[in-house]
Amino acid sequence: MIYKIFIRPVLFLFDPENIHDFILNFVSKNTLFLPVFRFLYSPHKKNSHPDYFIAGNLKFKNKLGLSAGFDKNGIAVRFWEALGFSHIEIGTVTPVAQSGNKKPRIFRLKKDNALINRLGFNNSGADEIRKNIEEAKKFTGKDFIIGVNIGKNKDTPITSAFEDYKICLEKLFPVADYFTVNISSPNTEGLRKLHEENYLDELLSQIMKKNIELSELHSCEPKCIFLKIAPDLNSEMIESVFRIAVKNKISGITATNTTVQRPKLVKEIQEEGGLSGKPLKSMSGKVLKKLNDMNSKISGTKLFLVGSGGVFSRNDFDEKIKYGASLVQIYTGLIYEGPGIIRKILNKQ
Ligand SMILES: Cc1cc2nc3c(=O)[nH]c(=O)nc-3n(C[C@H](O)[C@H](O)[C@H](O)COP(=O)(O)O)c2cc1C
Repeated sequence: MIYKIFIRPVLFLFDPENIHDFILNFVSKNTLFLPVFRFLYSPHKKNSHPDYFIAGNLKFKNKLGLSAGFDKNGIAVRFWEALGFSHIEIGTVTPVAQSGNKKPRIFRLKKDNALINRLGFNNSGADEIRKNIEEAKKFTGKDFIIGVNIGKNKDTPITSAFEDYKICLEKLFPVADYFTVNISSPNTEGLRKLHEENYLDELLSQIMKKNIELSELHSCEPKCIFLKIAPDLNSEMIESVFRIAVKNKISGITATNTTVQRPKLVKEIQEEGGLSGKPLKSMSGKVLKKLNDMNSKISGTKLFLVGSGGVFSRNDFDEKIKYGASLVQIYTGLIYEGPGIIRKILNKQ
């Protein structure tokens, strides 16, 4: 309530990207405030969901995480832990640092509780981000999971995209608890072509091969690999992606990234980019549900499903779980509802 009445109107006076960066920098530098944030926002331990296990060696303390793109460079990891998330996804990380598209590139659609962004993978690059995670890990608990979402640089042709993903795997392997292979950002030209069968099969098989090589090199288990897909796929494409994911034995699928569609909006806006928030909810829910239906039909190891898109409340969270998600991630809901959303979702009513 306090956030929506007093804080949000002030924050919304500023340019979305500037205020985002300002707050991220503030919370990353002022670590003395962490206990205050923990006290105010973290869910009550005894009331929240019980420990929750997932693939391989990963153990999540609850089912809620921060989606990729919020803290692209992993500068505020300790803050996210203090807020009570079980995990965060840093990135999208590319091998080399890049500045992304021309500003302005994030737009608020207040009446629709949504955002449009066309950031274009602005990030500090794999080396710098690895250092940020190494530093953060000195302070975070073992039960706080740090995933790294990886992609390709803008100038890398789609036919050699595999190389960029493999470089990210190599550079970040020692610090990532899991990886998400992002093939679904609408803001890197041609990236979504990687959903196509020939590209995807090759990409995932190369990534899984590299994963095993790196696990032997570092004498540890291979990392869990998730694939983050677009909400703008037809039924046939979803089936094909699912089949290839199962064939290559990846751990799971994150459904979904932002949409390039413009479902009925209260206020029309002529900006290109990916739409997130409330108007995305049913679209990403449908993809999740379809994946879950396919999952229930296969024998053997199932894919873990991560639900992302339009979660603004406990009901939205419950719907993702009902549709088969083992984990749920939020982004736009945190901007509109404030950090109080974490307790609202995780505390038992
Ligand atoms: C400003 C912004 C930047 C984002 N950047 C990334 C990114 O770098 N990588 C990625 O996989 N997803 C990115 N996303 C997508 C989110 O992680 C999330 O999947 C999507 O916004 C749907 O969830 P939401 O409706 O809760 O926001 C971004 C979203 C926004 C709004």
